[in-house]
Amino acid sequence: MSVPANSLAYPCPISMKMYKEQRQRLGESLHRAFPEGGHAAVLQAASEVPINSTDCNYLFVQESYYYYLFGTELPEAYGAVLADGTGIVFIARLPAEYATWMGPLPTPEGVKAQLAMDEVHYVDEMEKVLKAHGVHTAEVMHGTNSDSGLHTLQAKLPEGSSLTQSTSFLFNTLTAQRGYKTAMEAEVLKYVCKVSSDAHVTVMRMAKPGMSQHHLESTFLHEVYYKGGCRRVSYTCICATGHHGATLHYPDNNALIENGSMALLDMGGNYRGYAADITCSFPVNGKFTEAQKIIYNAVLDAHDKVMRAMKPGVQWVDMHLLAIRTICTHLIAAGLLKGDLDVMMKKEIMQYFQPHGLGHLIGMDVHDVGGYMEGYPERPTKKDCCRLRTARPVEEGMYMTIEPGCYFNAALLAMAKQNSEVVEHLNLEKIEEFADFGGVRIESDVLVTKDGVVNYTVVPRTVEEIERTMAGAEFSKDIEVYHN
Ligand code: GLY
Ligand code: MN
Ligand code: MN
Repeated sequence: MSVPANSLAYPCPISMKMYKEQRQRLGESLHRAFPEGGHAAVLQAASEVPINSTDCNYLFVQESYYYYLFGTELPEAYGAVLADGTGIVFIARLPAEYATWMGPLPTPEGVKAQLAMDEVHYVDEMEKVLKAHGVHTAEVMHGTNSDSGLHTLQAKLPEGSSLTQSTSFLFNTLTAQRGYKTAMEAEVLKYVCKVSSDAHVTVMRMAKPGMSQHHLESTFLHEVYYKGGCRRVSYTCICATGHHGATLHYPDNNALIENGSMALLDMGGNYRGYAADITCSFPVNGKFTEAQKIIYNAVLDAHDKVMRAMKPGVQWVDMHLLAIRTICTHLIAAGLLKGDLDVMMKKEIMQYFQPHGLGHLIGMDVHDVGGYMEGYPERPTKKDCCRLRTARPVEEGMYMTIEPGCYFNAALLAMAKQNSEVVEHLNLEKIEEFADFGGVRIESDVLVTKDGVVNYTVVPRTVEEIERTMAGAEFSKDIEVYHN
């Protein structure tokens, strides 16, 4: 099998130079940390995962740190980065009979050409090869993902290896590095965001009362795969309509789409490990009611205000507060809340209407690594801020979602009613009118530039844009650039 170097048969070719640059950056960090030499980063690829006890596997998902450095979806492999940026991949030596089931077995020469890698060997040669490069210490991953609480995959050195194993360097260094996207990564992220945006527009146009939510999910999956080459999505599609929209990660996607209801569709394609995460909210019959406009415009105002405020140096927690304060202002104006804005913000009342953070880092993981890490601010304790997935100041090169929302969640409202400090601000009669409303979330993916953000999400956002698009008008919009 011959595969041309530096390109793969996908709609958006990814240059292997992107991964090379990422290895180079890590190599520089290794060199700074260990100027005397002898240390190499060693990472392990993910393994195939069987479905229950069967001999079928889940669709393979590469380990993100490994994919980020080596650009390969080969499982059961290892990779090393040396201090001069040299990349070495070690592939499994598979029994010859595997070829019958899996196709031609990967060879070091073939993989080297495909990945434009400096060296490729078999896993059983790792010790010998690393030693020949003067490596005495393998720097391996060891850390906890601050979103999931799960441990990262720590490379297991071959049985009896005489290499020293160290866990003090790699996790923090690589996690920090992944937080700042390169220009080449930004192009891939822009691509997957565009593919996902286009699929959202298609779904928005085809959604009709009387259909099932699963039609929406199915259409999105088809669009991003067929047109964009995204074999998987970054998370299970959230295709909520009506009251289901109040459940942040509604998983079922199997209810009837009722006339007069709002849809909240949170769906993002995944292209060779790079994620999109987009939410569109719209009335399923294509025409907003006055009540729907109130909530939608409250959230859109929050979304737009944050877009116009984001730039390096601002505090992410302040962006979150700006968003929930904006929504609170609209809820007061609409008579759902009563009393003084500052008093309500002090009482942290928005925890009952937007029970999630403004957004998160995004990249190779949809909730990308590095939200909370050593040397950066800790999770806020205020009840209306504590769900933030990061509290880091905003910096150039970060890629983030901006996703304010407003929900009428029965469980949360029941809690709000039990809080005597809060209940006095609730216009219960008016809120009751929204009991089946569900929610609105507006989520865009933005790259932080030197003086603002670029919004890679290109979907109808205003009430007028949505109504026109759903009525069949052509939709096109340029990527929005904010200089703030
Ligand atoms: N789709 C998950 C999230 O918005 O964070
Ligand atoms: Mn998100
Ligand atoms: Mn989302």
